[in-house]
Amino acid sequence: MEIKITEARLTPPDEIARKKENPGFGKVFSDRMFVAGWTAGNGWHGAKIVPYGPIPLDPAANVLHYAQEVFEGLKAYAWADGRVALFRPEMNGRRLNASAERMCMPTVSEEMWTEAIETLVDLERAWIPTDGEGSLYIRPTMIGTEASLGVKVSSTFLFYVIVGPAGPYFPTGFKPVRIWVTRDFVRAAVGGIGFAKTSGNYAASLLPGRLAAEKGCSQVLYLDARERRYIEELGGMNVFCRFGGRLVTPPLGGSILPGVTRDSILRLAPDLGYEVEERPIAIDEIVEGARSGELGEMFAVGTAAVVTAIGELLVEDEPVRIADGGVGETARQLYGALTDIQYGRAEDPYGWTRIVEPRG
Ligand SMILES: Cc1ncc(COP(=O)(O)O)c(C=O)c1O
Repeated sequence: MEIKITEARLTPPDEIARKKENPGFGKVFSDRMFVAGWTAGNGWHGAKIVPYGPIPLDPAANVLHYAQEVFEGLKAYAWADGRVALFRPEMNGRRLNASAERMCMPTVSEEMWTEAIETLVDLERAWIPTDGEGSLYIRPTMIGTEASLGVKVSSTFLFYVIVGPAGPYFPTGFKPVRIWVTRDFVRAAVGGIGFAKTSGNYAASLLPGRLAAEKGCSQVLYLDARERRYIEELGGMNVFCRFGGRLVTPPLGGSILPGVTRDSILRLAPDLGYEVEERPIAIDEIVEGARSGELGEMFAVGTAAVVTAIGELLVEDEPVRIADGGVGETARQLYGALTDIQYGRAEDPYGWTRIVEPRG
């Protein structure tokens, strides 16, 4: 695939350094972005890297009304030896395609996925934080662009990739979070779009998320839509419970996003001496386990924060403390093991890291 690279006004190095210092998450973007269009006749075409900026969109565009949209979130890490690595990018590519198929959108070839991301990341190397904590967040996105108010599949699509520096998720250190469990809202039902990374799932989570914040909780832990009994996932992260030496996480049943971090922990934890299990976990089991002390730890996992300890649940309105309410040993250990691989500080026996080679 040929990518045309057009000229962009580049931010001076001292300004990039300043913007990289405290970037937060998702607010600072680099100078350029990848774009490509799709039509039935031409497939994907016109791949190019252009200056970052607004995209022209008809007010009747499908995505603005019927939400044909899928996206991904992954990161590029600057290693101490100057190399830049991606973490399991092919998994995100496969997930994008699974999401796209559910949303009646075209898929992206492995070649296009790899070339789009690696060419852009290579060009924007200067934007990657080098402090061993921050990273370059990569947001590939696909939208339906056809201008038509009929409820139907768009006949034209746009795929774009934007990137920007992201600081450590918890700039003040590894802190346990408080999570709201509610039976009043569901995130997704089996048969719906829960397994797809598509905007509608996140739109549905905004109101419960706001109510959670009003209760001093940082996210919502959703229960299954049918019985409101089994835990599913947070609005933006998967969850694990530790009972003794066993790590348990809900199975992927169609309503949960298949997280790359979740999958990595299921693969890595046995090598650290844990047993792992995917099975339904009732919220009652968690509450009882927290009371009896059998539940040793609970933590959330995802690309943004890697591993986040859950210190307390608010189940409806009842506070349930998990162990001593602090950050457990397993959460620390898994965080360390994963980030050491991501930043090239440890061997990668799983073949998860992919070096972005400098292009000509
Ligand atoms: C709903 C949801 N669940 C789980 C995850 C974690 O997935 P990953 O580990 O691939 O970042 C995310 C983040 O992408 C998410 O949005």
